[in-house]
Amino acid sequence: MKVLVTGGAGYIGSHTCVALLEAGYDVCVIDNLDNSSYEAVKRVEELTGKKITFYEKDILDKPAMEEIFAAEKPDAVIHFAALKAVGESVAKPLEYYHCNVFGTIALLETMKKFGVKKLVYSSSATVYSSVKEMPVNEQSFAYVTTNPYGWTKIMCEQIIRDTCHADPELAVALLRYFNPVGAHPSGRIGEDPAGIPNNLMPFVAQVASGKRERLSVFGNDYPTRDGTGVRDYIHVCDLADGHVLALGKITDGNGVYTYNLGSGQGTSVLEMVKAFEEASGREIPYVISPRRPGDIAEVYADASLAEKELGFKTKRDVYDMCKDLWNWQAQNPNGYQK
Ligand code: NAD
Ligand code: UD1
Repeated sequence: MKVLVTGGAGYIGSHTCVALLEAGYDVCVIDNLDNSSYEAVKRVEELTGKKITFYEKDILDKPAMEEIFAAEKPDAVIHFAALKAVGESVAKPLEYYHCNVFGTIALLETMKKFGVKKLVYSSSATVYSSVKEMPVNEQSFAYVTTNPYGWTKIMCEQIIRDTCHADPELAVALLRYFNPVGAHPSGRIGEDPAGIPNNLMPFVAQVASGKRERLSVFGNDYPTRDGTGVRDYIHVCDLADGHVLALGKITDGNGVYTYNLGSGQGTSVLEMVKAFEEASGREIPYVISPRRPGDIAEVYADASLAEKELGFKTKRDVYDMCKDLWNWQAQNPNGYQK
């Protein structure tokens, strides 16, 4: 079975390509390398000993997409390609709606033209931004978010659901990821953020390697056990395995399946810092700073539906996430740039 992976050179995409190849799928990747490097694809091939057909193309380039679908004849698509920085989406909303929403529509149109009926879509826990009751389950979805990036995820989910209603042969898994962290245990692939990292753990890793002086902890006055924000961190390799399970599910069925992919555990910022210090043997200096606008106190998953229907259960804990993140960071202090 051949899977076309959009955004397969990126952080989650590259780890998922490893999991797919190891599970015996053939893989081709479309990525415009806007936020990634071809080096990641080469390293996936090196790790698995298998080939990936790679196209450096934009998913908005319909003629190119049609040529690729005609040549590859994929059985299924996993759609990662998107812009994902929340702050940037506030400054550049049109770029985000253009890439994420038009990109998804272009992909769905191409799938329709070539009769491809299976899709796994990268959604996000950002769709739960307004939910107060924890843990959040798939029904907690409230059609409200705080930023253009979040809206693109809500809109794409809705566009995909409507497309499925119109074509009962389509089978789609909408996967709502919580906070992906870590790297492949080999240290060969990992997250390679451009510029100053926005997210907690890539920033912590750069403090450990001496690239940044100290971490700013955004607020210690939240109503949580130590006052810092609580999130549901999931090892990127567990997340990648979740895609293989979701693909198996939609191969046998049709309709829309929506799953949280998280660990079901909440961990605070200070707990993550401590876990990273233990795993790396490095001290992480930090200061308490004001809250980051738009942040919420806590969000963690009710992960029971994915366990029940997919047999999905995380195997790696926060210590593993930190150990593998540090291994990647220490081996690749400048990411994929030599
Ligand atoms: P990433 O930026 O590492 O990967 C996205 C990839 O898509 C990149 O390689 C980029 O070059 C490519 N891309 C972007 N626009 C493209 C276009 N128009 N045409 C072709 N390729 C394009 O991000 P990631 O963390 O791997 O995220 C993958 C998906 O998961 C995204 O849809 C993101 O919104 C979603 N997601 C990520 C997180 C997270 O914390 N990392 C959480 C929830 C959801
Ligand atoms: C971010 C995105 C969210 C996305 C999620 C998935 C923002 C505002 N939101 O959320 O849309 O779905 O990633 O991974 O970017 N923190 C610090 N110091 C830092 C960075 C973060 O204290 O330098 C804290 C935050 O306040 C938060 C926690 O660490 O409590 C996690 O932050 P982050 O990694 O940015 O993830 P989210 O805020 O959950």
